[in-house]
Amino acid sequence: MLISPQLTGNIARNCHPPGCKAYLQQQADYIQQQATISGAKKVLILGASSGFGLASRLTLALAGGADTIGVSFERGPNEKGLGSAGWYNNIFCKELAEKQGLLVKNFIGDAFDPAMRSQVIEYIKQEFGGKADLVIYSLATGKRKTESGQWHSVLKTTDAPLHGLSINLETEQLEPQTVELANAAEVEATTKVMGGDEWRNWIDALQQADVLAQGCNTIAYSYVGPERTAAIYRDGTIGRAKQHLHVTAQELDKQLQTQVGGHAYACVCKALVTKASVYIPVMSPYISLLYKVMKEQGSHEECIEQAYRLFSQHLYPQDGQVRLDTLNQLRIDDLELSPQVQQQIDLRYPTVTADNFKQTTDFDGYKTAFLRLNGFAVAGVDYQQPCDIEALSQLKP
Ligand code: NAI
Ligand code: NA
Repeated sequence: MLISPQLTGNIARNCHPPGCKAYLQQQADYIQQQATISGAKKVLILGASSGFGLASRLTLALAGGADTIGVSFERGPNEKGLGSAGWYNNIFCKELAEKQGLLVKNFIGDAFDPAMRSQVIEYIKQEFGGKADLVIYSLATGKRKTESGQWHSVLKTTDAPLHGLSINLETEQLEPQTVELANAAEVEATTKVMGGDEWRNWIDALQQADVLAQGCNTIAYSYVGPERTAAIYRDGTIGRAKQHLHVTAQELDKQLQTQVGGHAYACVCKALVTKASVYIPVMSPYISLLYKVMKEQGSHEECIEQAYRLFSQHLYPQDGQVRLDTLNQLRIDDLELSPQVQQQIDLRYPTVTADNFKQTTDFDGYKTAFLRLNGFAVAGVDYQQPCDIEALSQLKP
């Protein structure tokens, strides 16, 4: 069967598994060309199957020699289709790391379900050597269900309605979009989903089960961004959730210092095209222009370069001194927020229109980055070669 991309708006409806494998291999090749990292050896990653979580896993396994447990919510093959890209990322990531003699375990299911925590804890005790020395929180989702309720996050403003433009990847148009003002319940729901509650629940449960090693750290990925995107991000519902995550980081930091001599940090990353970020209204022209400027200046990074820089230079630098800002945060958004990048964006952003955005921004790069997440538009892959559906559906994560 030949598989070509099916998009509905900014949602990918299918994936190309051999393309996912090739894209993963490219990321692995990049890591294997870098110097080794001497850091965590037993890592639990919540949200391991794509984006920052997957890049972290590849980096720590292939440059750091770490055994990894990944938790993710992904779909395998069924009557309706081949399953999700993350499903195959888990499978191929496991193959790659196992070749290096590393332990790789995938749990597929809801990370918000206490039963998932119990299973992971049992696994750490029985088969993972008893302790984890790094826990990465990299979940991105629109909903959270617990025994006490169900929440749906919204991507809205908290100050005033916002009129802007968003890239529609399906139609390849820059379209006007209005972002509504959230009410208090929506702000709360978004914080319940994307804030720090579940990060804390995981750390508490792991600690109570005594599976955190002495000196164990935990990090959670976050975004802040420039003034330009503040209305939708920093000051939007998602930004409120991130503030909660940042406060949780400070609290967990104290807790881990006392209990295991470890630390908790929020890690602020660069804006990148991921399954989650293309969903944020009126952010896309900024990200697409950011790609253009950073590529021109030679400072563009994808998740894998970000992850390598984070672990090799910020969390586990050779001098052993963790690099933090005054808010006790890891900052790998430094290049995005640098004056030379932001000045260029400020200069050019007002000239971007629906008619010229394919030239004035890196629309091609933006769309290619999105397609690659699902195994399409990956260099070196022959898309005229049929996929062996039968063989693919035998693969297990
Ligand atoms: P992503 O969509 O690529 O990855 C999300 C991961 O969470 C996937 O592995 C998915 O399977 C997993 N997941 C979602 N719901 C789950 C559930 N209920 N149970 C278990 N696993 C679940 O997203 P991305 O972009 O890597 O986001 C990860 C974190 O990085 C988020 O906190 C996001 O805010 C942050 N971040 C993203 C930036 C961007 O530009 N993409 C920039 C800075 C931070
Ligand atoms: Na992730």
